[in-house]
Amino acid sequence: MEIVPDRFAGRTVVVTGAGAGIGRATAARLLREGARVIATDLDGKRLAALGQGKVEGALLTVTGDLCDGGTVQRIVEACAGRADALANVAGIMDGFLPLAEIDDETWDRVLAVNLTAVMRLTRAVLPVMLVAGQGSIVNVASIAALRGSAAGVAYTASKHALLGLTRSTAFIYGPDGIRTNAVAPGGVQTSIVATPRSESAWARIEPVMQANAPPSVDADTLAANILWLMTDEARNVNGAVLSSDGGWSAC
Ligand SMILES: NC(=O)c1ccc[n+]([C@@H]2O[C@H](COP(=O)([O-])OP(=O)(O)OC[C@H]3O[C@@H](n4cnc5c(N)ncnc54)[C@H](O)[C@@H]3O)[C@@H](O)[C@H]2O)c1
Repeated sequence: MEIVPDRFAGRTVVVTGAGAGIGRATAARLLREGARVIATDLDGKRLAALGQGKVEGALLTVTGDLCDGGTVQRIVEACAGRADALANVAGIMDGFLPLAEIDDETWDRVLAVNLTAVMRLTRAVLPVMLVAGQGSIVNVASIAALRGSAAGVAYTASKHALLGLTRSTAFIYGPDGIRTNAVAPGGVQTSIVATPRSESAWARIEPVMQANAPPSVDADTLAANILWLMTDEARNVNGAVLSSDGGWSAC
């Protein structure tokens, strides 16, 4: 990927899930392109590693669970009145559990991380963008936001709902200069835990995936899409769902 020096100079960007995978690739590229990045993750060691690379921009890290109000508060404090963009990347899988086998704990946690935490953090950062009269929010959804054959019931429901959150936010706040879009990745090589926990569901899902899913890509490929949505080149893009799946959603 070609780095565009200073493309994000002077901008402050919040990135969740910045310790690994797509969030890490997004934060690292933003830093290389000159942004001030507020990188947040559950895992403090991963965030510390992010700061060890050669970076051009300024890195602030916030370690904590996005489902805790205190973490959200610390992220907003780190913004210090400036948030040009917010990338809601953090997310977790559901073991491909189908409806008859889903336990309340898995359902609640997946919905809490993939949906409710996104709403709470966005709600907290939005006032800063409203004062500035501009901002870009990018929510990382999934191919599972577009079909029922790519994950279990909790993950699928959470990512479908995330598109609703994205469109509602885009519609209401577009006139205030705030664009809200989603990226829907297909397979990406990351550390996400995607071990099937249901034999019956996996027997149904696996052959469909084998037949339809293109080869997975690296996280930098997704970071490129996320960054583009934050730039002025995407100024007319609001409420969109950008599939980045090699054509999976076209089958
Ligand atoms: N990897 C894929 O194939 C794929 C496909 C489609 C969508 N996605 C989506 O992309 C996003 C990023 O996934 P990834 O594959 O990079 O995963 P990953 O597991 O490699 O990275 C996710 C990061 O988020 C952090 N995180 C998880 N829960 C958190 C919480 N409650 N609070 C704070 N941090 C938390 C983890 O510690 C981890 O560092 C997710 O929303 C995922 O659903 C991934």
